[in-house]
Amino acid sequence: MSVLNDRNILLIISGGIAAYKSLELIRLLRHEGAHVRAVLTAGGAQFITPLSVSSLTGQKTYTELWCLTDETEMGHIRLSRESDLIVIAPASADLMAKMAHGLANDLASTTLLASDKPILIAPAMNPQMWNHAATQSNLQILRKRGILQVGPEPGDMACGETGWGRMSEPRQILESIERYFKPKALSGFSALVTSGPTFEPLDPVRFLGNRSSGKQGHAIAEALYEAGASVTLVCGPVNLPDPQGVRCVHVQTATEMLEACESSLPVDIFIAAAAVSDWRPVQEKAQKIKKSSSTPDALRLVENPDILKTVATKKKNRPKIVVGFAAETENLEKNAKAKLKNKRCDWLLANTVGPDDQGTEKTFGSETNQVLFLSADGPEIWPRSEKKDIARMLVQKLTSALASPNKKGRKKS
Ligand code: PMT
Repeated sequence: MSVLNDRNILLIISGGIAAYKSLELIRLLRHEGAHVRAVLTAGGAQFITPLSVSSLTGQKTYTELWCLTDETEMGHIRLSRESDLIVIAPASADLMAKMAHGLANDLASTTLLASDKPILIAPAMNPQMWNHAATQSNLQILRKRGILQVGPEPGDMACGETGWGRMSEPRQILESIERYFKPKALSGFSALVTSGPTFEPLDPVRFLGNRSSGKQGHAIAEALYEAGASVTLVCGPVNLPDPQGVRCVHVQTATEMLEACESSLPVDIFIAAAAVSDWRPVQEKAQKIKKSSSTPDALRLVENPDILKTVATKKKNRPKIVVGFAAETENLEKNAKAKLKNKRCDWLLANTVGPDDQGTEKTFGSETNQVLFLSADGPEIWPRSEKKDIARMLVQKLTSALASPNKKGRKKS
């Protein structure tokens, strides 16, 4: 039976040409057994009619806040409370702004403000509007509140421009809705993930850093959250948005990363995907180092704490599964096996970093990764895949290991 069978979905259709796609979404939802009630905003009604929406939902379409019959029959409070999930498709820039700032001047915004239900938005707008600082900051506010999001997608827009702003296809939105209702394999488990580089300051201007973008670590945090885990992400300086639904702690240095990890324990799962600097300058200089000094003192280095090893060797509060990474430029398997043993982790994902034959970086900053997975069960080669898919493969492994704890394939040391 479909996970959507007998679920009550409140669909809010706001203004945008993508409103026509929401008709197909209603059809798909009903096909899966969901009951769909719809609110059509004044903007939405410029593109589709209440009659076409009602023909597909089989129910009245609500459009007015100040309608006496609607308020006595249903009312915006009941509309918002009698659903299992509120889906906004398309979600216009205007409606997102109203939600972010708590405005309530029409039926849709009032219903949303009166709601205590989970909300999924499918944004759709012109690329400039999507990229505008105001929309992006509204999105951050909504994400921090735990609002779920699907899309937008890149492509050609009805206005003739090209970029990010197309509403996701109805089937993709349906999949996100189904994902929300599916039982979550890691629900009840907690996870801590490190991601991105660390920057070790030499002076107020310079630092010791590396090329990690945080894409792999962030994808893992997202996949764990999707699987129902409660996730803390400790991340170094990256140019990525905070993943949805994840508690994020931002740090600069390895010492700060260790502190943030220690204070997030205990957890069930620890994954060290960050590229932590092995060393830091002995002392950060208060002023910019002058060119005249021969070998600056600040270039003398001291070893940083090993975060992975510290967590993996905890006597108290050791996570049930500790996963490390190894970034190697040569002898991948040999070096990774040594790290697995030395750092006392249960599993290790080894990846090769550095330029390929064409001079393009293989892993840092790339959308894809190729991994050698090591556990007590031996090595497994995971083919080059999107970092998101590598993350999902890892989450699958975690799910089955936690379901049968004596099979986690931990190295005996
Ligand atoms: O961020 P991306 O651009 O997406 O790139 C992904 C990645 C290449 C950064 C990622 O896949 C990866 O390999 N991360 C680990 C990078 C690294 O620092 O590897 P390492 O071999 O130097 O360290 C081994 C392990 O010890 C890692 O789990 C690392 O997080 C951990 N470590 C290292 C040093 C230290 N002081 N503390 C640590 O916890």
